[in-house]
Amino acid sequence: MVNLPLMILLGVNIDHAATLRQARYRSAGATHGGSVEPDPVTLAFLCEKAGADGITVHLREDRRHIQEEDVLRLAAAKSTRLNLEMACTPAMTALALKLKPHSVCLVPESREEITTEGGLDVVKHRDKVARVTDAMNAAGIKTSHFIDPDADQIEMSVKLKAPWIELHTGAYANAYHRAGRKGEFARLVAGAQQAHAAGLVVNAGHGINYVNIAEVRTIPHLHELNIGHSIISRALFTGIAEAVRTMKSLMNP
Ligand code: PXP
Repeated sequence: MVNLPLMILLGVNIDHAATLRQARYRSAGATHGGSVEPDPVTLAFLCEKAGADGITVHLREDRRHIQEEDVLRLAAAKSTRLNLEMACTPAMTALALKLKPHSVCLVPESREEITTEGGLDVVKHRDKVARVTDAMNAAGIKTSHFIDPDADQIEMSVKLKAPWIELHTGAYANAYHRAGRKGEFARLVAGAQQAHAAGLVVNAGHGINYVNIAEVRTIPHLHELNIGHSIISRALFTGIAEAVRTMKSLMNP
């Protein structure tokens, strides 16, 4: 029996604060201090102060935004509930086992993509995913599989003993203003129901914004939403505290 909070939790993905820093300071040799800005770790603390329940970062193989030092500093901050998105590689597995974040989310990674496109195919990559999931479970690190809302993917996550899944909401978000929206939303609802019935904790993320949240929040059994781009974008106009507070209240009106 899984204890779920009454409110949907908000994990803020701060990758794009690091994208902004890297746009100017990629070759600075430092990740913060001096004139190197913005510092994503400082932003993480402000998100938490404004009501974020956790902080999510994706340490990519090409280090295009978040750097290893950012993850080290976040992991060292005891107040931060850190969710580390990572590819199923031996190097990332070793780093996660060393840092022991609160949770890891296994994601696909390809060098050409601008952002994560599509869920991790846990059926195709079952051996690799099983190895990482087993290692994390043994270390007491909660493991989430970022998967499309497809019955065979969810079934495989159950088989591989992932305690959590994160349903990929990207296809739904892309279809939001098109005819396919209803069908994509129905897939998410069915996926959440299937996963919950199998005992999985259900998270969701990708492409969630201040408009589609009104419908996203009605997906049944939601534990946590991981939201990045829309919150960081809004913060440029309103500041991060307002952006976090408003999203949290739209998630839990
Ligand atoms: N969840 C996962 C697994 C992701 O890869 C991303 C994008 O990095 C997000 C959530 C957040 O997506 P967005 O930035 O579109 O809110």
